[in-house]
Amino acid sequence: DGLYTVSLIEGDGIGPEISQSVKDIFSAAGAPIKWEPVDVTPMLVDGKTTIAKETIESINRNKVALKGPLATPIGKGHVSLNLTLRRTFNLFANVRPCRSIEGYKTPYDNVDTVLIRENTEGEYSGIEHVVVDGVVQSIKLITRDASERVLRYAFQYAEDIGRPKVRAVHKATIMKMSDGLFLGTAKDVAKDFPNVEFDAELLDNTCLKMTTDPAPYNDKVLVMPNLYGDILSDMCAGLIGGLGLTPSGNIGDECSIFEAVHGSAPDIAGKALANPTALLLSSIMMLRHMELNEHAAKIESAIFATLAEGKTLTGDLGGKAKTHEYAGAIISRL
Ligand code: IPM
Ligand code: MN
Repeated sequence: DGLYTVSLIEGDGIGPEISQSVKDIFSAAGAPIKWEPVDVTPMLVDGKTTIAKETIESINRNKVALKGPLATPIGKGHVSLNLTLRRTFNLFANVRPCRSIEGYKTPYDNVDTVLIRENTEGEYSGIEHVVVDGVVQSIKLITRDASERVLRYAFQYAEDIGRPKVRAVHKATIMKMSDGLFLGTAKDVAKDFPNVEFDAELLDNTCLKMTTDPAPYNDKVLVMPNLYGDILSDMCAGLIGGLGLTPSGNIGDECSIFEAVHGSAPDIAGKALANPTALLLSSIMMLRHMELNEHAAKIESAIFATLAEGKTLTGDLGGKAKTHEYAGAIISRL
């Protein structure tokens, strides 16, 4: 039927509403996507958090998934399903672009960053234990293999998108061994990409410089270990107006999952107040990943035009529109 099947994880809280906007806009745009909804209710098997076999099979079969927000418990409770998904499918690179949005005013109007986060290890390896009462140890695990894999991806990505400068962000002055390994691997990988410039910067300095003047980052691809990427990507999102506006793609060799990074916003769930833009922009990234570039461009310009016009915005952007009214405004521009 000429359609590509994509697994759809609608997610918790506002997830179903923002997923509905994506579905409505895609069908109005004639995007050749068939959604296959999957369930990601957590299950405990041998003390490990896992998800239904059917879901794993669906994502393995379709190779591509779109995912809304999944609530993560703080402290005790099941392991974050977001992490379970990244691990289950070995989604080793997390690509997080961040571009200023015309029509949404922030102190910066010229942000255009691309951040690639190692997505499988570091402080996220989940290895923690009590040494003695009052003393805990959390292991930051860094391997050459995982570092090399994400670094190669970053260099190749930089070349592919025509932004041939890679900057590794690190703290090897303090984390001499772990970040030292990451940085050393970056230097080695750089040798295999003679057409890509390479340099490195300390994370704290990156934060300072980026919030002072983001423009010098507009020609670079930043690559870094997991937790740094988690934090710095939120900072970048802050520069352009928040997580309601930023897409994200978890890339693996076999499958990829595109997701909104924001939370499930239980306080506004079911009230048609949510802004679907982050999930929409993630779905645009997904279309480009699937090489459906024309559909991506068409939907993307309708989104940006709607935001730029500023008449039909959701509450988080200072407007009064309901989720479906905003989606309707995008549809009317297709
Ligand atoms: C993100 C989120 C996740 C993370 C949470 C929800 C587990 O903050 O995708 O950045 O920490 O990676
Ligand atoms: Mn985060």
